[in-house]
Amino acid sequence: LDNGLMRTPPMGWLAWERFRCDIDCDHDPKNCISENLFMDMADRLAEDGWRELGYVYVNIDDCWSSMERDANGRLQADPKRFPNGIPHLARYVHDRGLKLGIYGDFGTHTCGGYPGTTLDKIQTDAQTFADWGIDMLKLDGCYSNATEQEKGYPLMSQALNATGRPIGYSCSWPAYQGGLPPKVNYTQLGEICNLWRNYGDIQDSWSSVLNIADWFFTNQDILQPAAGPGRWNDPDMLVIGDFGLSFDQSQTQMALWAIMAAPLFMSNDLRSIDARSRTILQNKGLIYINQDPLGIQGRRLIKEQSGVEVFWRPLSNDASALVFFSRREDMPYRYQTSLKKLNYTAGVYQAYDVYQEKLLPAFKDSTDFVVSINPSGVVMWFVVPTKQMMGDGKL
Ligand code: DGJ
Repeated sequence: LDNGLMRTPPMGWLAWERFRCDIDCDHDPKNCISENLFMDMADRLAEDGWRELGYVYVNIDDCWSSMERDANGRLQADPKRFPNGIPHLARYVHDRGLKLGIYGDFGTHTCGGYPGTTLDKIQTDAQTFADWGIDMLKLDGCYSNATEQEKGYPLMSQALNATGRPIGYSCSWPAYQGGLPPKVNYTQLGEICNLWRNYGDIQDSWSSVLNIADWFFTNQDILQPAAGPGRWNDPDMLVIGDFGLSFDQSQTQMALWAIMAAPLFMSNDLRSIDARSRTILQNKGLIYINQDPLGIQGRRLIKEQSGVEVFWRPLSNDASALVFFSRREDMPYRYQTSLKKLNYTAGVYQAYDVYQEKLLPAFKDSTDFVVSINPSGVVMWFVVPTKQMMGDGKL
């Protein structure tokens, strides 16, 4: 969507995967969906180095609202859990240099059973969100049918635009259409949404991360061309820092999401995140690759019998990113290849190992090299051609 927003994949924090629909503030005050949770996360984003790296969205998901609309038919936050209201939360977030995202559902109810946005309510809800100072809307699609969605998702895009407030627009529409053409029209999605959920919900497990990554790369011929500045495929939240992924699996999720030019919405508890997970999520090389201004989504190049897969993403200034991933379950695997075998043009290159934070010595496209890849882990390289070289091919 050409609304000037999200020219690189949006980054921030989203409540759903980690905090779900926990509304029991009496017994679980620290983790329930309440203004305190979002203020806590805003504090962490602002104070723990996240904001400076680009993680600026604080996003509310389902179960924030009251069960009833107000006397004027407008959505309202649950008065017990958001006693100061959403406008207050928006000010709190903005005062810290962050942006506030909210959740709605095109349909009679949200997936959690809260009031939804039917066709007749689209303008009201868009205006309410704008009046409140909202910066991004995730529009879910429970409790509506395909015919209604065909009207509703484009109408909300127009309605948000008509408010005059810049509001990023995340559409769950394709996930409800099965994610693929002919039901999904990716050209149209790119015109009306800034990002869209193509596929099922991520869970806090390695099998879920793998299932999602497999679906996106299996369908890359369809999905890859749909992405670009202002319009992104969304494979769902980062679950790094939660309970389900090992250290290597966490590195893998971050690497594959960077290759996919995916939005980076963490769903974790930033108040208690461990140091190793933080290092992965705050890795500057990874974020630099994810945020490349060309916004070209990467692809899987190779799927070896051995269980090794190689992914590639072209970046600006003739740079590129490579990910060597091992699905093996035995021991670190020594994978041998060369840039030439990975379709690189003849020349001398330098590679920077993004996780080791080490620059490797220059080497030719034809030079065979070996990378040691941990089980369910990755090696990730940032590769640049060396412009000047001596006659002997040395730098
Ligand atoms: C389905 C969405 O895909 C999830 O991300 C989450 O928003 C839930 N609905 C909330 O009910």
